[in-house]
Amino acid sequence: MDYVEIFDTTLRDGEQVPGCKLDSVTKLIIAERLDQLGVDVLEAGFPISSPGDFKAVEDISKLVKNARVCGLTRAVKKDIETAAEALKSAKRSRIHTGIGTSENHIRYKFKSSKDEILERAVAAVKYAKSFVEDVEFYAEDAGRTDNEFLAKVCEAVIKVGATVLNIPDTTGHCLPEEYGAKMKYLKENVSGIHKARLSCHCHNDLGLATANSIAGVQHGARQIECTINGIGERAGNTSLEEVVMILRQHPNLKLDTRINSKKLYGISKLVSESMAMPVQPNKAIVGANAFAHSSGIHQDGVIKKRETYEIIDPRDVGVDKSSIILTARSGRAALAYRAKNIGYELDKLQLDKVYEQFLIMADQKKEIRDKDLPKIIKASNI
Ligand code: KIV
Ligand code: ZN
Repeated sequence: MDYVEIFDTTLRDGEQVPGCKLDSVTKLIIAERLDQLGVDVLEAGFPISSPGDFKAVEDISKLVKNARVCGLTRAVKKDIETAAEALKSAKRSRIHTGIGTSENHIRYKFKSSKDEILERAVAAVKYAKSFVEDVEFYAEDAGRTDNEFLAKVCEAVIKVGATVLNIPDTTGHCLPEEYGAKMKYLKENVSGIHKARLSCHCHNDLGLATANSIAGVQHGARQIECTINGIGERAGNTSLEEVVMILRQHPNLKLDTRINSKKLYGISKLVSESMAMPVQPNKAIVGANAFAHSSGIHQDGVIKKRETYEIIDPRDVGVDKSSIILTARSGRAALAYRAKNIGYELDKLQLDKVYEQFLIMADQKKEIRDKDLPKIIKASNI
């Protein structure tokens, strides 16, 4: 097994989302839980952006026991100095600095040239290295940057000591094959690449962030930047719980993370509630329906053997058990199972009668709850 480091950016890229702003106490609570979850790197914020963010990075640096604490900067001296100051109490720290490298960013955002961008990238990494040993460089909009220039920038920043190369698909535009090929190209064409770790940072504008991150690690990247529940700018970032469970479900990839998956559901709820960002019910791994079965055919299969319709044991991600939801689409097996759970053992004849009554009520209600079952059983006159 090779390890893929998990770089959590819930408190930076995630918290950037309008309406998701957290107070300082909640940030500390989430940081502590992320540390217990087992993330390798915790991006705590963008210290220059506001005094509040500076203080959050400073406080998180003092609190976190295991993870490396990271602060974001632009390729700007003042940003880097401020991040270094905010991180100074961290047991292990990282400065995350970088600049846009795509044609679009160079021409319109910076009104600059490739040579100048290269110079600024190198200067930023060199300056960050004067404060901390561990410097991650991001090539913003790498997803739309031509591979040749991207490789040139990566090579130059490795020479001045970058330890991690973040290849963000900032706009979520890449296809998995394309993003994987980008990583492969860098592995094969950047001299000194063995001295740095390649990192995936994918956005979900086309719903491909998770697929792209997995393609990235299949082609040599060894860090994934992600957030709890996939929160983040626009359509969000790669979802932490998804990449962790994909690697666990596919041991043939021979890649794993250090995440304690049993804590995934709890932290998902904490982040969702703290940020008032509901998790869609059909969200993979942590959605309310991720382990709920409502059609008769599926329920019958799951009751006979859970694995028939579930690839993950819910307890592995911190969910108590699978649930059998009673609706008008449910069959006798589900009804008998739920009735038994609350103390009613029904024989075949009794079940037929109760099922008739059940369907009458189920056609009127969206869902039949445990409290409805005694009334249905009584009305069946069994
Ligand atoms: O999406 C992105 O490019 C980023 C960088 C600032 C790392 O979040
Ligand atoms: Zn991002």
